Amino acid sequence: MLRYAPTILLLILALNTGWFVVYSAGLGLRGLMSHAPGEVSRVFQNDGILANAGIALHMIAGAVLTFGAPLQALPVVRRRWPGLHRRFGYVLFVLAVATGLGGLVYITLIGTIGGWWMSLWFAIYGGLMIWTAVNTVYYAIAKDLNRHFAWAVRLIVLAVGSWIYRMHYAIWYAATGGAASNDAFTGLFDQIQVFAFFVPYLLIAEILLRWRGARRGPAPA
Ligand code: HEM
Repeated sequence: MLRYAPTILLLILALNTGWFVVYSAGLGLRGLMSHAPGEVSRVFQNDGILANAGIALHMIAGAVLTFGAPLQALPVVRRRWPGLHRRFGYVLFVLAVATGLGGLVYITLIGTIGGWWMSLWFAIYGGLMIWTAVNTVYYAIAKDLNRHFAWAVRLIVLAVGSWIYRMHYAIWYAATGGAASNDAFTGLFDQIQVFAFFVPYLLIAEILLRWRGARRGPAPA
């Protein structure tokens, strides 16, 4: 039973992101197709073609990435269908770079609702996503499977990070009614959330990767 634990956990993770994946892709598409995108969401501008394209593209690419990254890591896919794993790996690489770049373009042109602190951490998030995707593919091509595995774990953490961000908010608002959080995203909770949705999870991943490396030696193919 324990050997199926990664498969079960990855499937539960992918399924739980479903609502956010549909929301994100839908919002991106509506923003792209609308004649008055500013009315679709405050994130879009009525006269900012490049910023709108960047943020809409990042929502659509990010939606597929959020759902696809956990599925890509399923042991059965990696072992039984290595060709599919390889091809979809390149697709996820392009999606991760597009998601990161789209967000970075938007931050550069418009900034974020929460001001420089939020912009800084979201830019770090986007930069890390691109860097992690590049390393994941680089070590796959180099056939260094230990490093490929480690970078892939980091990429999955970042890929589901945007969903984790929303889950933190949903849980916090259900538990406290939104204490230390406001519409301008400047409350203490908001200011902590800008890094709390990926930094702690990356640290946990690092600890597990080191523990795994010390215990089991080489990573699976
Ligand atoms: C991992 C996949 C991602 C998905 C599915 C995603 C999805 C979304 C969605 C749906 C929004 C609209 C806000 C809302 O209605 O909640 C948004 C906003 C935003 N995202 Fe992402 N995102 C992802 C990753 C990223 C990355 C890597 C960056 C960093 C470059 C980023 C930067 C931004 C920015 C700057 C905004 C606007 C913030 C604001 O001013 O409110 N996103 N994202």
